[in-house]
Amino acid sequence: MNVNGEAAIVTGGGSGLGAETARHLAKAGAKVALFDVNMDGANAVAEEIGGLALDVDVSDAASVEGAVAAAREAHGPARVLVNCAGIAPPAKIVGRDGPMPLDNFRRVIEVNLIGSFNCMRVAAADMIQMDPLEDDERGVIISTASIAAVEGQIGQSAYSASKGGVIGMMLPAAREFARHGVRVLTIAPGLIGTPLLLNMPQEIQDSLAAQIPFPHRFGHPNEFARLCLHIIDNVMLNGDTVRLDGAMRMQAS
Ligand SMILES: NC(=O)c1ccc[n+]([C@@H]2O[C@H](COP(=O)([O-])OP(=O)(O)OC[C@H]3O[C@@H](n4cnc5c(N)ncnc54)[C@H](O)[C@@H]3O)[C@@H](O)[C@H]2O)c1
Repeated sequence: MNVNGEAAIVTGGGSGLGAETARHLAKAGAKVALFDVNMDGANAVAEEIGGLALDVDVSDAASVEGAVAAAREAHGPARVLVNCAGIAPPAKIVGRDGPMPLDNFRRVIEVNLIGSFNCMRVAAADMIQMDPLEDDERGVIISTASIAAVEGQIGQSAYSASKGGVIGMMLPAAREFARHGVRVLTIAPGLIGTPLLLNMPQEIQDSLAAQIPFPHRFGHPNEFARLCLHIIDNVMLNGDTVRLDGAMRMQAS
């Protein structure tokens, strides 16, 4: 799909991978709405790219329904959804203070998994009603998983479960929307240099980067954004997870 002139929604657009994807989409001519709880970040990116920042909790049904309606009002219905909103608080199942509070596990599932589903269900309802483009294509949905979906480290039980769920729901969604010409994919990044990683102590960063075979460094957010743009452009990509990890296979800890 050529995104020039089309409306797009990027969740988590106020920081990291979402912010960079929003910049690339805008540069390619898309009208971009940013959904985030971090309004300082979302407003700054929106101002930079001429987009629309909306205060949205992706885990909340009414919040997403209202925001998709507001984005539609401003830009027209979106043909592109990129789910980047996510949280990754590490915690052992049984830590020093006993078992992990169940609500901590639940919150990660709510934001990462239910949040991605929530945005997909509302955005897809608009996409399937739009006029078809070349190849009868109507829309593209990309959700951000993680290599932790399959190689979760100690302390990542909630995060890995949430990202495994993101990958798991992708194929049934791609199959359901196929007759409407809406594609659904996931990207599983390895270690990408966003505030999430770059705020860690330098020795931890060095030890993590040392585990990446090639290239021997963290990924740049623009490498994620460029992959999103390629997926949107290439209509034959559908129903798959693309790893973006420099051959990294995470160890137990
Ligand atoms: N950076 C990496 O190495 C890496 C690796 C694998 C997967 N990921 C995934 O990529 C995605 C983006 O991560 P990032 O590195 O850019 O992190 P980030 O912290 O820079 O950005 C995440 C954004 O999501 C927003 N957010 C959090 N909860 C939200 C909610 N309930 N509703 C709306 N917005 C919410 C945050 O405010 C933030 O702006 C996440 O899903 C993360 O799990 C990142």
